Amino acid sequence: MLSLRLAAVLFSLALAFVLAAPAQEEITIAEVAPNLTSLEKRETFPVSPAEIDSFRPYAIYAAVPQCKPTTLLAWNCTKCLSNPQFTPVTVGGDGDVVQVWFVGYDPTLDSVIVSFQGTDISKLLPLLTDADLFLTPLNPQLFPGISPGIWTHNGFSHAQSLSAAPVLSAVQTTMSRFNTSRVAVVGASLGAAIAMISGVHLKINLPSTTTFKIVTYGGPRVGNKAFADYVDSHFPDVVFRIVNKRDFVPIYPPRFLGYEHAEGELHIRDDLSWVSCPGHENADPNCLLSYASNIFGWNLNDHGGPYGGIPMGC
Ligand SMILES: *[C@@H]1O[C@H](CO)[C@@H](O)[C@H](O)[C@H]1NC(C)=O
Ligand SMILES: *[C@@H]1O[C@H](CO)[C@@H](O)[C@H](O)[C@H]1NC(C)=O
Ligand SMILES: *[C@@H]1O[C@H](CO)[C@@H](O)[C@H](O)[C@H]1NC(C)=O
Repeated sequence: MLSLRLAAVLFSLALAFVLAAPAQEEITIAEVAPNLTSLEKRETFPVSPAEIDSFRPYAIYAAVPQCKPTTLLAWNCTKCLSNPQFTPVTVGGDGDVVQVWFVGYDPTLDSVIVSFQGTDISKLLPLLTDADLFLTPLNPQLFPGISPGIWTHNGFSHAQSLSAAPVLSAVQTTMSRFNTSRVAVVGASLGAAIAMISGVHLKINLPSTTTFKIVTYGGPRVGNKAFADYVDSHFPDVVFRIVNKRDFVPIYPPRFLGYEHAEGELHIRDDLSWVSCPGHENADPNCLLSYASNIFGWNLNDHGGPYGGIPMGC
């Protein structure tokens, strides 16, 4: 449960943003200024119960990095037991400076699983709402050949960079040990943002025969339109951004700072049915943007799910 105090802080931050908006024009993101006309209202599609069910193992993988790392390595946390087929290979991070992550193999999906920990909402809020947050180009050492116009949130890409090398190495080890070329990258909340950037990093650094899937829960916006377009074109139809009802996190950082989501929104409606919302920022009434358009309608508890019956967190 989130405290009233936190709600008050969030509300004042939101208000500050609205009031500060006209002054934002001078910040360095002028060259990646948002194209607010890219808001689109495109036709939505229902997600079948079978498809919703197919996300259950991914929701478990996204939730459990909140558990004690020793229980991840032993794969005996309570939620871990819902995916008994999984073999963990490496657990990293410390949950403090470096978000916890793990890599292993799921034989049912015949896929390497990479999962990144989220964070306490009180630690996430500053990353989403600080007036100081800025978009920066991806580090060309980690992302060789990436266009300098592709920018991401500096805090999210910093978080990803801290585990980039050991994650890549663990994925290579797991692909070779289990002879698979499939990789699924998952995460919730801050972990969702890291997962999105990590997917790009892994794709650049793994053999071109590798096939990917990126599944995120309650993910914030990660980068500018060029980043969103890059994700669309390099991960066509394999990005699934699952967002719950009136969660406010996925509508931050705000679009007027130059942020834009990639394709792949799956929105959970009030009646718990899911709809696929094509486009970057789909303004259809069934999709998140409309649900969360009014801050008085935000529900801070929607961030944790449940997502297809599975709440995030250990
Ligand atoms: C903004 O986006 C719309 C729709 O995608 C496009 O037609 C228009 O040219 C864009 N404007 C600028 C200034 O990029
Ligand atoms: C999980 O496994 C580890 C190592 O086998 C063991 O020490 C620990 O007690 C187990 N925890 C639970 C909750 O079963
Ligand atoms: C690894 O997988 C490939 C493709 O599925 C298969 O052709 C090959 O025989 C497998 N190698 C081993 C050692 O199992």
